[in-house]
Amino acid sequence: MNFQGKNAVVTGGANGIGLAISRSIAAAGGSVWIFDLASENPVEAARSIGAQACIADVTDRQSLERAFDNAVVPDIVAVNAGISGLASLTETPPALWNRTLAVNLTGAFDTVQVAAARMKPRRQGSIVLTASTNSFDGEADLIAYNASKAGLLGILHTAANELGPYGIRINAVCPGLIRTRLTASSFSNPAVLSEYFKHIALGRGGEPEEVAQAVMFLASDLASYITGTTLVVDGGQMAAKFGTWGQATDRFDEQRWTRDV
Ligand SMILES: NC(=O)c1ccc[n+]([C@@H]2O[C@H](COP(=O)([O-])OP(=O)(O)OC[C@H]3O[C@@H](n4cnc5c(N)ncnc54)[C@H](O)[C@@H]3O)[C@@H](O)[C@H]2O)c1
Repeated sequence: MNFQGKNAVVTGGANGIGLAISRSIAAAGGSVWIFDLASENPVEAARSIGAQACIADVTDRQSLERAFDNAVVPDIVAVNAGISGLASLTETPPALWNRTLAVNLTGAFDTVQVAAARMKPRRQGSIVLTASTNSFDGEADLIAYNASKAGLLGILHTAANELGPYGIRINAVCPGLIRTRLTASSFSNPAVLSEYFKHIALGRGGEPEEVAQAVMFLASDLASYITGTTLVVDGGQMAAKFGTWGQATDRFDEQRWTRDV
């Protein structure tokens, strides 16, 4: 894919999936602005991949507007900043609920709103949200996260409807379990992984680059007639409701299930 001449903003671009999106777009010739918290050293992350950085907290409208003012008007915006925290429905404290919604949902709304206002006069552009398979299912102990990611679908559909007349497309990727610091505790626990990956048709977790490739497609002109929809990037997890792996012929080695016969 060729992103020559395209300007991209990636929120939460200093780590994990956002860094992979930033790196991929930059490698394809795009000019990338990483927006992230000062504590994550986005300047260093950007330097390492030939991008630029703006300090931005998506929960702070002023800092977001300042960052967009400092970058050029983007052709592509990856709305990716996100957090998660584990707690059951009855044990979720208000602070966890409020913070998760503030970053993942209100932060995404503010990012889309601020970006769209700048993109509309140019009558072109592409926005890609990082939603989740948890936009659709009810993984236990993640009620705030699940609600925030389900809420993104409301932003997605409404924004697609309102921005279509301005030539702006908006779509979402819905990753499954991807190897980042957000999921480090799962990836460092073989017992958890072998159980979890029984329900993934491809028998393994995903890498940030594999989500970045889907974001690149949706952001690119190859997706010129696609707006308002989701692209699930989960190795077939949503399709494998009753599980795939665990037969006598299956082996779990090096973080993946394989079948020899
Ligand atoms: N890793 C997975 O399995 C997975 C699966 C589905 C969806 N996602 C989503 O992918 C996105 C990226 O997650 P990741 O796994 O790469 O995690 P990560 O922690 O590696 O990256 C998240 C980034 O968001 C930034 N961020 C957090 N709060 C912010 C704020 N207030 N303002 C600006 N930036 C902020 C962080 O600093 C970090 O750079 C998130 O939206 C997450 O919900 C991840």
